[in-house]
Amino acid sequence: MWYRYIIGVNLILITYILLYHFHDHASLAINLLFYSFSKIYQNNHHTAIILAKTPSVRVLKHLNALVHVGVDAFVMCDEQPSKYTNITSRILYVNDESVAQYGLTGNRVWDRVFVWLYNQTSLDYVWLMEEDVTWSNIHYMVDLFDRYANNHADLLARNIIYRNRGARRWLHWPKVFLKILPENKWSGSLNMLSRVSRRLVNAHQYYVQQLLSERKKPNVTQFDNDYYYQEFLIPTVGHMFNLTMLIYDYSKMDVYVYRLSENNIRNSLEDGKHIFHSVKHDSPLLINATVIKKK
Ligand SMILES: *[C@@H]1O[C@H](CO)[C@@H](O)[C@H](O)[C@H]1NC(C)=O
Ligand SMILES: *[C@@H]1O[C@H](CO)[C@@H](O)[C@H](O)[C@H]1NC(C)=O
Ligand SMILES: *[C@@H]1O[C@H](CO)[C@@H](O)[C@H](O)[C@H]1NC(C)=O
Ligand SMILES: *[C@@H]1O[C@H](CO)[C@@H](O)[C@H](O)[C@H]1NC(C)=O
Ligand SMILES: *[C@@H]1O[C@H](CO)[C@@H](O)[C@H](O)[C@H]1NC(C)=O
Repeated sequence: MWYRYIIGVNLILITYILLYHFHDHASLAINLLFYSFSKIYQNNHHTAIILAKTPSVRVLKHLNALVHVGVDAFVMCDEQPSKYTNITSRILYVNDESVAQYGLTGNRVWDRVFVWLYNQTSLDYVWLMEEDVTWSNIHYMVDLFDRYANNHADLLARNIIYRNRGARRWLHWPKVFLKILPENKWSGSLNMLSRVSRRLVNAHQYYVQQLLSERKKPNVTQFDNDYYYQEFLIPTVGHMFNLTMLIYDYSKMDVYVYRLSENNIRNSLEDGKHIFHSVKHDSPLLINATVIKKK
């Protein structure tokens, strides 16, 4: 039965060649596919963190609305929250000493959330939103999260600019140059509502440590704190690691840097927009933002 033997060997060889070929040319795609399907698609479980100064009533209502639609939501506070509310596992805080270990001394909530994320190694993707992000109905947030659930981008932001693609006049470009973060990698992003990946969090941790050792060098005369500015640091470390960074579809949002008045919100609602920033007041037009109801 030698021919069976040969057929068997051939089959094994062909399988091997096919696998090898596939692996060689598609290993990246396979990894990404597995990554998205096993980690995101299957659970379809979103994580979101509201970045807030204090756990105000408004912030807690937003948290509650997110949790009620099945989002694993948290609030990261910039001030010790026990002063304001009974602490639950959804209300987070990282103290000044912990962030200072990384040389982060600005005591900003963005630093606290990243230092917290450094340790959350089982979180693959997390949405971050500043406390003045709001919406007309919580389901629009879930729709946004769902829409990108199978997208493996490391940063999803409202806008991303690149120094080496002509964006030279941004206020927050550092004035001092550092070898570890060369100018051609400098990037800026609008992150008031954004999603970051584990890879991006790791890149952030890596470069925060690099920046700290830069500053510890004896002959450092000048350092520019814009290196720590989240709108600079987050996309720039992503760019350093060649991570994927995308601007999400904001056609249903009025999310930008300016503060929205009631009139702005009214006009945006008429234009079919449902997610807003920045809204610092309790808008009667967004009365349903935190109403908890089944869809
Ligand atoms: C904290 O919890 C106590 C006991 O459960 C309750 O009486 C009190 O009102 C709570 N305080 C706040 C700020 O929620
Ligand atoms: C992260 O984990 C390290 C090592 O276990 C620990 O020393 C550190 O305090 C943790 N950081 C936070 C913010 O929990
Ligand atoms: C600072 O010191 C390091 C190590 O001694 C040296 O390699 C580097 O060139 C120095 N940088 C400047 C700007 O003098
Ligand atoms: C990023 O891409 C550049 C150009 O392809 C390459 O030289 C560099 O090593 C890459 N960096 C990382 C961290 O993969
Ligand atoms: C709030 O929801 C109720 C019930 O769906 C609706 O009748 C009302 O018009 C909504 N209000 C606003 C301001 O959107």
